[in-house]
Amino acid sequence: MTNQISAFTSLEELKTAAARLDSEDKLESYGALFDLPDDCIYLDGNSLGVLPVSAKKRAKEVVEQQWGRDLISSWNTHNWIDLPIIVGEKIAKIVGAAPSQTLCCDSISVNLFKLLCGALNMRPNRKVVLSQQDNFPTDLYMVQGVESLLSSQRCMLRTVDSNNLEASLNEEVAVLLLTQVNYKTGYIHNMAKLTKLAHEKGILVIWDLAHSAGVLDLKLDAWEVDFAVGCTYKYLNGGPGAPGFVYVAQRHLAQFKQPLSGWMGHSNPFQFSPNYQSNKNISQCLTGTPAIISMSILDAALDVFNNLSMLQVVEKSQALTEFFIAGLTALELDTDLICISPLEPELRGSQVAVTHPNAFAICQALIKRNVVADFRAPNVLRFGFAPLYIGFSDVVRALESLKQIIANKVYLNPEFEVKSKVT
Ligand SMILES: Cc1ncc(COP(=O)(O)O)c(C=O)c1O
Repeated sequence: MTNQISAFTSLEELKTAAARLDSEDKLESYGALFDLPDDCIYLDGNSLGVLPVSAKKRAKEVVEQQWGRDLISSWNTHNWIDLPIIVGEKIAKIVGAAPSQTLCCDSISVNLFKLLCGALNMRPNRKVVLSQQDNFPTDLYMVQGVESLLSSQRCMLRTVDSNNLEASLNEEVAVLLLTQVNYKTGYIHNMAKLTKLAHEKGILVIWDLAHSAGVLDLKLDAWEVDFAVGCTYKYLNGGPGAPGFVYVAQRHLAQFKQPLSGWMGHSNPFQFSPNYQSNKNISQCLTGTPAIISMSILDAALDVFNNLSMLQVVEKSQALTEFFIAGLTALELDTDLICISPLEPELRGSQVAVTHPNAFAICQALIKRNVVADFRAPNVLRFGFAPLYIGFSDVVRALESLKQIIANKVYLNPEFEVKSKVT
């Protein structure tokens, strides 16, 4: 698909190409599975995915019938108790994992705590957790938290920039903690290669898949990944605050031990024994009572992925981002908006990020025109292209709005400077 995207010189050419690309789009029918507001160009699926129709239906059912009518019996009759496993297995298929290694629970941050402590315990003679300076802050914060809990004798965060990662893999490092797709630039790490290089030095690797799951063709088992975490509110469309997931490779499950030893991870929680006895399987990653309403909605949302080819998703994602970048050039926006995402499609996640001194105000002006993008401090404007509900004509509409805003300096209007709590 990307090789059908050439250089364009005008808006008219972009519109013609978009109509052709939309007509050839093998994923076009997936749009109907989502409940997108009319007339909204939603380029923020990398922050919060759109509501799937199946999820909307389940939300009503789980609240009105399962909770409202069937009440506590639903733990058994609607199998609430097994939801973390059921949903985990659905996610496993999307991330290339065989059964019994993936569980739905908690948030990325909390799951990182479990994995970091568990992985450090498996490398008792090492203390360094190596990560990248521009990793998503929570990943670094969680290591800092573990460091202050265990002391710097047992955990020490070391950050380097992306280019120095490979050279920094050495025998001091216990754990390599990386996010596969950089949240700002969209740069994709070579997960298979870095995992292999780390293993050669005896390092365990934890991957954060926040911007990968549901939009990249992942092969966790084949790439011999040790551990991974991910969220479900972005490309998996589970809804705001939907629970995350955790992956522990089968080969580590017997030795791995996570410290948040809550009753739900006990081998027999309903025995109410005073002594914790961990489940040796992936359920040991459970801590407290799962967020059933959220998890039920996510369970239904994931049905969108049944029989979906992730290769087709990747192909369309690359084509959409390629088309957007070509459009920035065609409309001469690339002198004002500096692209910081990789130009090679295979190195780019499903987003394009540009910088501009007035990025925040530009983002607000776009939102006013019903084109939803997002802003990351200090000057990054991110456009996310979720391939299941974004088409090429949507990209052109976004570019048209962007052109009007930049050409007329609409962003200088003070109304676009007002910052709310969430930016
Ligand atoms: C790469 C990455 N990791 C972690 C998080 C946050 O994780 P959580 O809020 O689920 O703990 C985000 C949020 O956007 C993210 O982009």
